[in-house]
Amino acid sequence: MKALVLAGGSGSRLRPITYTSAKQIVPVANKPVLFYGLEAIAEAGVRQVGIVVGDTAAEIEEAVGDGAAFGLEVTYLRQDQPRGLAHAVLIAREYLAEDDFIMYLGDNFIVGGINDLADQFRAGRVSAGDRPAAQIMLTRVPDPRAFGVAELDGAGRVVGLEEKPPQPKSDLALVGVYLFGPEIHDAVAALKPSWRGELEITDAIQWLIDAGQWVESTVISGYWKDTGNVTDMLEVNRLVLEGIEPRTAGLVTDSELIGRVVIEEGASVERSRIVGPVIIGAGCRVRDSYIGPFTSVDRDCSIADSEIEYSIVLRGASIDGVRRIECSLIGREAEVTPAPRVPKAHRLVLGDHSKVQISS
Ligand code: G1P
Repeated sequence: MKALVLAGGSGSRLRPITYTSAKQIVPVANKPVLFYGLEAIAEAGVRQVGIVVGDTAAEIEEAVGDGAAFGLEVTYLRQDQPRGLAHAVLIAREYLAEDDFIMYLGDNFIVGGINDLADQFRAGRVSAGDRPAAQIMLTRVPDPRAFGVAELDGAGRVVGLEEKPPQPKSDLALVGVYLFGPEIHDAVAALKPSWRGELEITDAIQWLIDAGQWVESTVISGYWKDTGNVTDMLEVNRLVLEGIEPRTAGLVTDSELIGRVVIEEGASVERSRIVGPVIIGAGCRVRDSYIGPFTSVDRDCSIADSEIEYSIVLRGASIDGVRRIECSLIGREAEVTPAPRVPKAHRLVLGDHSKVQISS
């Protein structure tokens, strides 16, 4: 079994962060979201991974390299434009050959890994006779219109799938992890672009159903998020931080650390109060500040005279004299400081598509 990891796309809902960074590389608890997926794939016993990359290829390749750090052999497959998930399968045809594969969307986050799913599919595939051509994971969501949606019959078999339907037939959304046999290649080759101009994997799976193939589904109740927007990103960050083990490798003076707090090597914390779960990356400087629960501060940041909680701060950012920041995603090398007292005005230098909420 191989894996096909999708790490292209423009990440429009995470702008302006994604103007300079691939969405799959945005860190959760100081580790790129993509790495959690690669670890889950390695854990499921898969070695050969094709990563489909687009405009942000250089950044993904720099972060993942040849995959050896994950125990994987990575091959990069270039997609010229984001033409859809099924298009990614199309360009990976030669790489995948006749193997079964796991398709994993690089911005999806699943708690509990994919071992059971992969084992179940493997077992189904070796048994004689009828065997599933695809296995999908479904989960109940409050607003299915943002996802692929499945309709099941009384016996739990998938009878229909629709991509982002205005009037969903159920609340069962397709999770961004799929298992396929080589049967999927005929399906993707037969597709026409959807209303959004993409080759939809949802339509390819529907094609299999229409062709009388067996599509197996598992409804998961565990935790799943597509980290395509800031709210979901912060929520996944919260969840991962809840599981961290406290550790202090940096220098802490005249400060109070409460609960699950990680201070990485070379970081310094002075006269501050940190209430976990919190991770402070290597080389950070924190002084005279309060850092509250569910905050990840990536390496080489500086936080002084400030208060922040439930936020993600990316590499090299600095926050000086600001209280209080919450529910925020702060980009690499960003600077946040107070404005002069007079005139009482906000001074902003914001990247295109930035979002700012000002409390005054
Ligand atoms: C894609 C799929 C959709 C699926 C979702 C899961 O949506 O098309 O069926 O439910 O991933 O994350 P997209 O990220 O392209 O909006």
